[in-house]
Amino acid sequence: MESAATTTGQARPARAGRGKPFEIRKLSELMAAEITGIDLAQPFDDVTRDAIMDALVAHHVICFRDQALTKEQQYDFTARFGELEGHVVRTWEGGKSPLVHTVSNLDKDGRPTDSPYTQGNFFWHTDKSYHEVPSLATLLHAIEIPPSGGSTQFANMYAGYEALPQHMKDRIANLHAEHSWEVSRTNTFSRTATEEEKRERPPVTHPIVRTHPVTGRKLLYIGHHTSHIVELPYGEGRALLYQLLDYATQPHRVYTHQWRKGDLVMWDNRCLVHRGMRDFDMTKHRRLLHRTVLKGSVPY
Ligand SMILES: [Fe+2]
Repeated sequence: MESAATTTGQARPARAGRGKPFEIRKLSELMAAEITGIDLAQPFDDVTRDAIMDALVAHHVICFRDQALTKEQQYDFTARFGELEGHVVRTWEGGKSPLVHTVSNLDKDGRPTDSPYTQGNFFWHTDKSYHEVPSLATLLHAIEIPPSGGSTQFANMYAGYEALPQHMKDRIANLHAEHSWEVSRTNTFSRTATEEEKRERPPVTHPIVRTHPVTGRKLLYIGHHTSHIVELPYGEGRALLYQLLDYATQPHRVYTHQWRKGDLVMWDNRCLVHRGMRDFDMTKHRRLLHRTVLKGSVPY
């Protein structure tokens, strides 16, 4: 691993280091890497874009340190990789969420609260799995973070699948789960879905064992957006989904990201589940991030 710093201790500028567009360092053996030496507000070429996507596929979570992107710049950066995806969830005012939207613990008057608009973020999920065409990646840019805590956890669903005993792999090989925005609301003790949201996002089904479209590796594609298993009795299917999720999210398959102000974290929703942590005083401290979501492809 090359050093990420020059002799002056400063991160190398983009393009330095024998033609490498940035420096990259693993944050854990399981997944996640930090990237330094690149300012995402500046234009970059397609070689750099492809290197970023390769890093995402290899490490599943990549964290660009010390960024200061405006919402427009975050939009432009995200759009280098594909189509941005909107969100069914409405704002406090009832309007549609913009493509670059805010994730925070603030109430409609801008005050910190431990009862945010939705609880779903605190439960293991993969973003937009209740879409027919779910998300490829999510990008969160830390604008305000609490003095400690407010972390995000990621569980490696390749590892969760690969560790299963063969009889379980055989049992779930051809099963499909129904993913539902409406059921996700009740799974996560959130407010119920509105009729408008239900019309916009009817339930969809996806294979429980998904193949990553780039790596070709199999993984578990489940989480709290699931309702039941199509091929099994309702209760039996739900119990199996929770059993699999508990297994896949055991601590040794989890990476916890401790946010720093300026982090821009991009993760691969095709092979991870994630959740926000309530590990700070939400009534006292502000936590605010800007979010964009990149549209993916139909799971198979
Ligand atoms: Fe999420």
